[in-house]
Amino acid sequence: MKTKLAVLASVAALSSGSLASAGEVEVLHWWTSGGEAASVNYLKEKLGEAGVSWTDFAVAGGGGENAMTVLKSRAISGNPPTAAQIKGPSIQEWGNLGFLASIDSVAKSNDWDNLLPGVVSEVMKYKGEYVAAPVNVHRVNWLWANPEVFRKAGATIPTTWDDFMVQAQKIKDAGMIALAHGGQAWQDATVFEAVVLGVGGPGYYRKAFVELDADAINSATTVKVFETFGKLRGFIDSNSPGRDWNVATSMVINGEAGMQIMGDWAKGEFKVAGKHVGTDFVCVASPGSSGSFTFNVDSFAFFSQSDAEKAKAQGVMAGEILGVDFQRVFNLNKGSIPARLGMARDEFDSCAHDSMDAFVSSSQTGGLVPSFAHGMAVSEAVSGAIYDTATNFFNSKTSAKEGAAQLVKAINAAR
Ligand code: GAL
Repeated sequence: MKTKLAVLASVAALSSGSLASAGEVEVLHWWTSGGEAASVNYLKEKLGEAGVSWTDFAVAGGGGENAMTVLKSRAISGNPPTAAQIKGPSIQEWGNLGFLASIDSVAKSNDWDNLLPGVVSEVMKYKGEYVAAPVNVHRVNWLWANPEVFRKAGATIPTTWDDFMVQAQKIKDAGMIALAHGGQAWQDATVFEAVVLGVGGPGYYRKAFVELDADAINSATTVKVFETFGKLRGFIDSNSPGRDWNVATSMVINGEAGMQIMGDWAKGEFKVAGKHVGTDFVCVASPGSSGSFTFNVDSFAFFSQSDAEKAKAQGVMAGEILGVDFQRVFNLNKGSIPARLGMARDEFDSCAHDSMDAFVSSSQTGGLVPSFAHGMAVSEAVSGAIYDTATNFFNSKTSAKEGAAQLVKAINAAR
């Protein structure tokens, strides 16, 4: 007769055997901040429960530029990961290069076409078949504020760019930092994008930065955008160069700074710090953009595998990602809203509710636009040109007119 221990050992062997048979995934991502890590860990956990083991391939660097560089070198050397955080038009670029695997059978059997908004599902398909699975919808046009800093400065939360300058000056005069900012190209571009949206409105945004319409780019509105953007130079601190975005968020969390303009992944940092919306921090649409929504959908694209076990594990991963559990917990941690439609709202906070409402209403008014600062709107070459122009301008004394002219030139050269 077997001892209790031996029985336990054989049960363990049995279950580890069946777990091992569900395969393994190596996943490239850039989610290394507190809120991001909590989010991606849940995916790892869900896959573990489904018997898929996880090899973490994290490449630090907000916005994912570093991760994309590393991904390219791995792919070129013929050794891409099983799945990688790739989004927007880049999915098509990787598809064109022949790297991506279809997960259409998983998508069909789970009815993804009806589970996802059209604006999301179309980005996930290459030549009509799903090659990527969306984890969330981030809204980028947010302003995060510390109400205590505003109280101390006698300032009110701004809703237009003109008012932003007035309120930021009050915070500065009270001896605090008005705008917490990390001087990295993608963060400069994120703030620039918010200015484009708030100053020009979604119609101009779409024409100039999605359709790349020459007249819209080369217009008086673009000069006005650079004027407003340039004024923000006066509200950041001298230590901003190179600062990571989550460090900038922590300046708002601890009351060193009044505001940050950043997508709602910032909320993940407030959450990790145990802060509550309304009392400890406030979220409002970035100035002048309350009816609009710059969307940024994170997704995992799957790379073709010769090993059938790995391909099977990709299917399990894709299935888990669209599951109700994953979409709920991941997005509660990440600060985003679920990509999957019809999810219960009650556990989400008021910022997420605002985001959910704005996603629907802006899609009816034309205010729903893809984020160019987060790889959703234009090719990598064009977004690189916009990054360069925004960052060069912000870190110099270049005039608004000159900045606008440089943008026209850079976009023309890149497209
Ligand atoms: C974005 C990404 C987000 C977020 C952010 C900072 O591009 O979509 O998920 O984590 O970068 O790393």
